[in-house]
Parts: sequence; C-alpha cells; structure tokens
Amino acid sequence: MSASVTPRVALVTGTSSGIGEAVVRHFCRLGHQVLAVDFNPAGREVAEEAGASFFQADLTDGDACRAAVAEAIKRFGRVDVLVNNAGVQHVSPIEEFPEAKWRQIIDLMLTAPFLLSQAVWPSMRENGWGRIVNIASVHAQVASPGKSAYISAKHGMIGLTKTAALEGGNQGITANAICPAYVKTPLVDNQIADQAKLHGMQEQEVIEQIMLKNAAVKRLIEPAEVAELVAYLASDSAGAVTGASWNIDLGWTAQ
Ligand SMILES: NC(=O)c1ccc[n+]([C@@H]2O[C@H](COP(=O)([O-])OP(=O)(O)OC[C@H]3O[C@@H](n4cnc5c(N)ncnc54)[C@H](O)[C@@H]3O)[C@@H](O)[C@H]2O)c1
Repeated sequence: MSASVTPRVALVTGTSSGIGEAVVRHFCRLGHQVLAVDFNPAGREVAEEAGASFFQADLTDGDACRAAVAEAIKRFGRVDVLVNNAGVQHVSPIEEFPEAKWRQIIDLMLTAPFLLSQAVWPSMRENGWGRIVNIASVHAQVASPGKSAYISAKHGMIGLTKTAALEGGNQGITANAICPAYVKTPLVDNQIADQAKLHGMQEQEVIEQIMLKNAAVKRLIEPAEVAELVAYLASDSAGAVTGASWNIDLGWTAQ
C-alpha cells in the first residue's frame, strides 16, 4: 500500500467484470476495504480473489440498494466511498425501444445511483468525509442514435453529480463523474459483435470505423486506466475537486 493512501471503506457496484472489477482490484491493492455489489453471482469469485467482500443485489430494486449499503455498514461500520458503476446497454431506435428496457436502464443507471447516494449520505456526513464517483460516459456529453435510455440516464447522472456536489460541499462530501469513451469490457465486446452482424463488417472494422471514428487517440481504453482516475477522485488529494465531469474519452469531445 502506498504510504500516502488512507485506507477507506468503499462500496462499488457492477463488479463482476469490466470497469467495476478493475476498480475493486485497484482499491484492494491500495488497502481499501471494499464491498463489491453485483446481481451476477460470478461477482463473488472476482471479489474474493481481489480481497473484497461481495453482496449480491439487483440494483434495479430500491430495497436491494438500501440493503447493500446496510451490509457495508454492518461489515465495516461506515461507507467512505461510493462508486456507482453498474450499467447495461440496449440499442434500438426510439420508435421501437421497449418500455421495459427503458425502465430497467433508468432504474439501474440513474435511480440506483440516487438511492445509493441517499443511503450512504448519513455515514459520510457523520464522518465529515465522503467521495461519490459516478461512472457516466462520453454519452453523458454527446448522443448517438439508438441509445436513448442509456444516454438519458448518463446525462441525468451528471445532474445528480452536480447536485450532490453542491449539497455535500460543506459536509466533506465530494461528487464527481467520469465520462469514458469505449473501454475494453464485456459491455463493449457485445456491442462490437452486434454491430459487426448489423453492418456486415469485421469486428476490427467496427472498432476502427465506428467506435474510434471520433477519437483522436485510436485505441480502446483499458479498464485499469479508468480505475486509476476513480482512485484519484476517491483520495484525500481530490478534496477540492467536486461537481466535475472527467472525460477519459481519447479526445472524442475535443472537436
Ligand atoms: N465499456 C465502455 O466502453 C464504457 C464507456 C463509458 C461508460 N461505461 C460505463 O461503465 C460502467 C461499467 O460498464 P462496463 O463496460 O465495465 O460493463 P460490464 O458489462 O463489464 O459491467 C457491468 C456490470 O454491471 C452489473 N450489472 C448489470 N445489471 C445489474 C443489476 N441490475 N444490478 C447489479 N449489477 C448489475 C453486471 O453484472 C456487470 O458486472 C457502466 O455504467 C457503463 O455504462 C462503459
């Protein structure tokens, strides 16, 4: 553990793969106590291998969100850091977008971060220290066709982040959002395969011609690169940083 890192209690959502898994591994290496929360039971093995605890919860359910926070407080006595990361994608035009999918995405990616922030707030306020890190997306800044629910949830997450920053400012609680472009995770692997089928392209062509079309840096992002930024925003060093959206987007939104 680095001498400059204060061990904290962190609750991280969406941890069975991708960015959430990378955050759990990085936090454990830094010496934090982590409750990894996911609806996929495979998350238990990932968490235990990293040195974290695991709690299985479907975060589209408000009671499950509150139960996850109660579990963290029961195990560790407090929550210092909340990383709202769990997410799913569904691509179809507005005209055909299934209402159930819309509701699932808004529940998971906007309502759950709100309910989890609400549930961890008393612990952070009592300790006069808290960090909320919301994994948004480049799609919190710009839109693409076919992703209405995802884009609406991610844009909403920026509003939630800014409001939490204002309310937490005099309580030692910061809130920031991270806005990545395409990160090498199962969520993106599925999209590559789907788009390749849809457009009759090779997977490499999908990456180069669709996913990296707007990128200045022509490569996918590694989950560990996002985890490093999460760790900074969750650190003591970032106490003056709040209400901000941190692009890690290969230069996508620079144009
Ligand atoms: N991969 C990218 O390119 C990219 C880019 C920008 C933002 N993001 C965001 O990063 C976050 C993580 O995505 P990822 O790419 O690592 O994907 P991923 O599919 O690897 O991880 C998503 C995690 O969320 C969990 N999850 C899904 N539904 C859940 C539910 N109802 N309750 C609890 N957990 C649930 C999954 O089991 C999984 O562990 C998402 O919010 C995503 O929108 C990803």
